[in-house]
Parts: sequence; C-alpha cells; structure tokens
Amino acid sequence: MDKDKNIVWSKDQVSYERRCEILGQKGLTVWFTGLSGSGKSTVAIELQKKLTEENFVCYRLDGDNIRHGLNSDLGFGEKDREENLRRIAEVAALFQDAGLITLVSFISPYEKMRRFARSRTRENAFLLVYVKSSLETCIQRDVKGLYKKALAGEISDFTGVSAPYEEPENPDIVLDTDVLTVEECVERLYRLIVEKVR
Ligand SMILES: Nc1ncnc2c1ncn2[C@@H]1O[C@H](COP(=O)(O)OP(=O)(O)O)[C@@H](O)[C@H]1O
Ligand SMILES: [Mg+2]
Repeated sequence: MDKDKNIVWSKDQVSYERRCEILGQKGLTVWFTGLSGSGKSTVAIELQKKLTEENFVCYRLDGDNIRHGLNSDLGFGEKDREENLRRIAEVAALFQDAGLITLVSFISPYEKMRRFARSRTRENAFLLVYVKSSLETCIQRDVKGLYKKALAGEISDFTGVSAPYEEPENPDIVLDTDVLTVEECVERLYRLIVEKVR
C-alpha cells in the first residue's frame, strides 16, 4: 500500500513563534548521551528543578521511564534501540515545536541515532550534551546494580560492557562527571540553555 499518497498534512493556523511568545521562551531539545551511570538523569533532574524555579517550562524524557510506557514493547538489541531512539527523537521534536525545553536522557550510544535526533529538530534548537565519565567510575557507582549483572554475563547487549558506545563527534558541551560536581554540571548547562531559549 502506498500510504504516503493518502496522507495529507493538516496545517495549523497558529505558529511556533506565537506559542513561544505565550510561553516566554523558545523550544529546545537538550539531548544527554553517556554511559549508564554517567549522570544523565541526575543532572537532568536537578536542571529541571532549576529551570522551573526560574519559570521556564521544562519537561524530562528519561530512558527508563519511557520504556515503561511508549516503548515498553522494545528490547536492547541494536534494532530495538534504534526504534527506541527514533520514537524519542520524534517526541522530542514535537515537544520542541510545542515550545518546551525538553531534557532527554537516554544512553543513545550510536552517533547515527544522535544525528537523526538533531535532524528532526529545527535549526539551532538542539543541544547535544555528552555526560562523560570513565567506564571504571560507572562500574564503581553501579547505581542500578546493572554493571555487576552485565559483567557476570547476566545481561546481554549492555553498553560499555557487551555493546559499543560511540563517543559523540560534535557535542555542544561535555560534562566530565569524574571531575565536576552535579552543581557545576547544572550551572554550566543552565547558562548555555538560557542563552538559547531567550
Ligand atoms: N557530576 C555528577 N553529575 C551527575 N551524577 C554524578 C556526578 N558525580 C557523581 N554522580 C553520581 O553518579 C550517579 C549517576 O547516576 P544516574 O544519574 O542515574 O546515571 P545515568 O542516568 O546516566 O544512568 C549518581 O549516583 C550521582 O549521584
Ligand atoms: Mg538515567
């Protein structure tokens, strides 16, 4: 079936600019990438708090949470990870167009997926944040006890252990959580975000 032939785009009578005017901000996708345990969720949670205190409208899309709902049908093999990311990228693009600041925290291990996410969002409304920490640090933190399981061979396709993590080629900011505190990470990102959305 040629579905594209039968789908007609229905146009809005309200513009993105008008929504931004009402909200007093521009839409922005803040896309966190990094190993499990690198600090994506921790930084995103604190950043959301700070942005909200400053009256920005901010929403968080977190890997684990989304896997409970929208993406509960997907696993961790390469194909399912790609579909996981594809859906999130589309949701983030919609939220950006709605005028929200969206903090997206998924491992997103492949450059191809991150490129795709950027390509779905309008120009200048996407920040790639590389939350960087060494694998040793992540294994030491083992926030969810998953590295222990992965190293024991109980979880397959675990990023950093039995699945690859491609370092981002062109991140807008790198947060080295081996060195920086959570507060320092939040402060750096906050400044960058405010510049973009005002
Ligand atoms: N600078 C930092 N930024 C974020 N998390 C940090 C930092 N320093 C130490 N941590 C700790 O690292 C862990 C990161 O876990 P989490 O945010 O769940 O990682 P992720 O969401 O990337 O899997 C938390 O226990 C957090 O307290
Ligand atoms: Mg997380």
